[in-house]
Amino acid sequence: MQELTVDNESSDLPENTEERMVAPEQQLGEQFDQSLRPERLRDYIGQQEIKENLIVFIGAAKKRGHALDHVLLSGPPGLGKTTLANIFSREMEVQLRATSGPVIERQGDLAAILTNLEPGSILFIDEIHRLNRVVEEVLYSAMEDFTLDIIIGEGPGARTVKIDLPHFTLVGATTRAGLLTSPLRERFGIQFRLNFYDPEELKTIILRAAALLGIEIVEEASLELARRARGTPRIANRLLKRCRDFADMETSGVITLPLVEKSLDKMRIDLEGLDKMDRLILEAIVEKFGGGPVGLSTLAASVSEEKDTIEDVYEPFLLLKGFLQRTPRGRMATERAYQHLGISAPPKKQDTLF
Ligand SMILES: Nc1ncnc2c1ncn2[C@@H]1O[C@H](COP(=O)(O)OP(=O)(O)O)[C@@H](O)[C@H]1O
Ligand SMILES: [Mg+2]
Repeated sequence: MQELTVDNESSDLPENTEERMVAPEQQLGEQFDQSLRPERLRDYIGQQEIKENLIVFIGAAKKRGHALDHVLLSGPPGLGKTTLANIFSREMEVQLRATSGPVIERQGDLAAILTNLEPGSILFIDEIHRLNRVVEEVLYSAMEDFTLDIIIGEGPGARTVKIDLPHFTLVGATTRAGLLTSPLRERFGIQFRLNFYDPEELKTIILRAAALLGIEIVEEASLELARRARGTPRIANRLLKRCRDFADMETSGVITLPLVEKSLDKMRIDLEGLDKMDRLILEAIVEKFGGGPVGLSTLAASVSEEKDTIEDVYEPFLLLKGFLQRTPRGRMATERAYQHLGISAPPKKQDTLF
């Protein structure tokens, strides 16, 4: 793995990385995960291309003593966006201020955050696609010119005051970059789309987590877990912890291959890593809609799940695995999906050209 070698001497950014402000909702939900989060780029497994680019961008910014350019991270949940934002602050040796799109309700909320940033620090906005438009507009000049345009007064007497902001780096995370308005998206100088991880990478992540948590797992068991973790580090870590529960209750505490198979079976995670909802979605398309195409809203209603959740969480993996196809007229189950569900595929539909 590549080391991040940068020239620290020339950086005039604050050294203090200890004092981290994290929004309360993040502290609560992710406290346990925190111990597994890699803190340095060299410990961040996979996403090789992104890492190689980051070594250059971070190194260059530090060398110049400038804030890193604004970064947009997109990709399905659990692939390591928040982790990367934290790593930026460690590697750049600057403070991190974390918040999320829906939390910032008014322009004033954002103005308060921006004016209180330390020079060079990182502002992490999770779910940035959920910022409301009015708030978003404040970000434009903040990102581009590091100024804040504030309107004082009302009606004809109203005037705009420009406030200078400290140079900062905005790191935005979103499950779908396509949901961002283009003026916002264009203001990110660095944009990365995180990919699903392959089994070898997930195996490394699992073995690392096992070591950190003091869990004993044999290698072939870790590979099997990796294969069935939906290409997602968060799921890999979660499955590891659940397997440990089974191992502690039923055996000597060591996670073996048979134990993984049995545990995943009990959790209804199949050989391809699909869970109950994945299968429910495919079954609905096949059984209720003749294999599709079916519109997203209809599909969501039929499995009682949010449209956004299907699109952000389930669909990307089903597409990757070739179980699902997106067509202009809706979602379709592939032959592979029929095979996987053990249902015989209907005769191929005729092309209706007339
Ligand atoms: N590249 C990686 N290497 C090691 N662990 C990772 C990696 N990416 C994610 N993780 C683990 O997965 C968990 C979820 O990652 P997170 O950054 O919260 O995902 P996201 O913000 O994209 O939803 C983290 O707590 C971390 O332990
Ligand atoms: Mg996150």
